[in-house]
Amino acid sequence: MDINNVNIEEIVKQVLAGMAGNASSAPAQTSSAASRAIPKTAHVAVLTALEHFDIKEYPMPAVGDDDILVKVEGCGVCGTDAHEFKRDPFGLIPVALGHEGTGEIVAMGKNVKTDTAGKPVKIGDKIVTCMIFKDDPEITMFDLNKKNVGGADVYGLLPDDDVHLNGWFSDYILVRGGNFGSTFFNVSDLDLDSRILIEPSAVLVHAVERAKSLNILRFNSRVAVQGCGPIGLLCIAVLRTLGVENICAVDGNEQRLAFAKKMGATSTVNFKDFQGIEALAGGVKDAFGGHLADFAFQCTGNPVAHANIYKFVRNGGGLCELGFFINGGDATINPHFDICSKEITIVGSWVYTLRDYATTFDFLKRAKGIGLPLSELITHRFPLEQINEALKTNLAMTGLKIAVVNK
Ligand SMILES: NC(=O)c1ccc[n+]([C@@H]2O[C@H](COP(=O)([O-])OP(=O)(O)OC[C@H]3O[C@@H](n4cnc5c(N)ncnc54)[C@H](O)[C@@H]3O)[C@@H](O)[C@H]2O)c1
Ligand SMILES: [Zn+2]
Repeated sequence: MDINNVNIEEIVKQVLAGMAGNASSAPAQTSSAASRAIPKTAHVAVLTALEHFDIKEYPMPAVGDDDILVKVEGCGVCGTDAHEFKRDPFGLIPVALGHEGTGEIVAMGKNVKTDTAGKPVKIGDKIVTCMIFKDDPEITMFDLNKKNVGGADVYGLLPDDDVHLNGWFSDYILVRGGNFGSTFFNVSDLDLDSRILIEPSAVLVHAVERAKSLNILRFNSRVAVQGCGPIGLLCIAVLRTLGVENICAVDGNEQRLAFAKKMGATSTVNFKDFQGIEALAGGVKDAFGGHLADFAFQCTGNPVAHANIYKFVRNGGGLCELGFFINGGDATINPHFDICSKEITIVGSWVYTLRDYATTFDFLKRAKGIGLPLSELITHRFPLEQINEALKTNLAMTGLKIAVVNK
């Protein structure tokens, strides 16, 4: 794939520039009796070369008055981690990765009373961090270039610093408060698998919010979801928890289509069963009992799939494109047939807001409540020592969500 992700590159540069003024004061005391059980050293998977993590051992840092020391339980592997592992496109090596992590508070400074949402926190609570680090709940990653990006910290995405415990592929992480302004949430009421799925699920909560803003998506809409990787499958799950029931999943992989049904799709279409886009659109129409989709979500990174999806949508329908987190190349569409004469309304979606992140916790509870097997999305669990295998399994695309889970 041709990668020319100018937007992301700009954001990374600005965040790095912002970090320059961020020297940690590294206050000297821990605040809890529980800290006696804390080992003297921590282990962090550091990407030291392309396709190679080393497990490094560092002294356990002091926990400052605004900081939280977390014993890591697990962390999902994201496409961004795999991208960094394979190419290091921003020259971040050596870097501690892992941003879909969660764990238990084992020590915290005296100033830490509540999480970013104002919920009280105590030793023993389970938390996640969020890479949207602003206190404005509506700010998205897209907006970072409009506001000051210094004075904040994100984990598992930026180069290592003198504290070292900066990524969730580790056994301990130091969540720094104060000037760092890290965003974190108390999610003790969610099980480990749900907590590992928070970050990717937030992408879909945001996408569905974006879709709803068009005022076309209804309870009884016929909805096509194209692409049944983790993103498309979670899209189906979010729609089901909202009460949208008529969902057709489109993919070329029968196993993934079968999983889409478990996740709540009412029908599936394997694009490999059809010759040409007209026939494929006919297949989607048949799946909806002779109607095209009222709304469609594009969840593949394939430009051909982007061009195809217009044909699945009825006149006056809506479309949410969220499949291109990075530049996947150009797509050819016919503006007259695909958009203009059909009066389709299109919305793009990228990452999430802090508010979407918090909304995601409730989505995960609702999904469990209606019996969606979200845990089964995590097909592989590796111990920290096998971090390189975890990333290679992600790149091989033999599973769905890959996770590193500590013993
Ligand atoms: N908008 C965002 O903020 C955001 C966030 C995360 C990921 N993404 C993007 O979402 C996309 C999907 O992520 P994923 O982790 O599920 O990826 P994935 O590669 O696991 O899944 C993509 C699926 O699309 C299917 N597919 C490919 N071509 C197709 C076609 N022509 N028609 C139908 N299905 C086709 C594949 O078989 C696969 O099952 C990626 O491109 C990723 O970059 C976007
Ligand atoms: Zn991610």
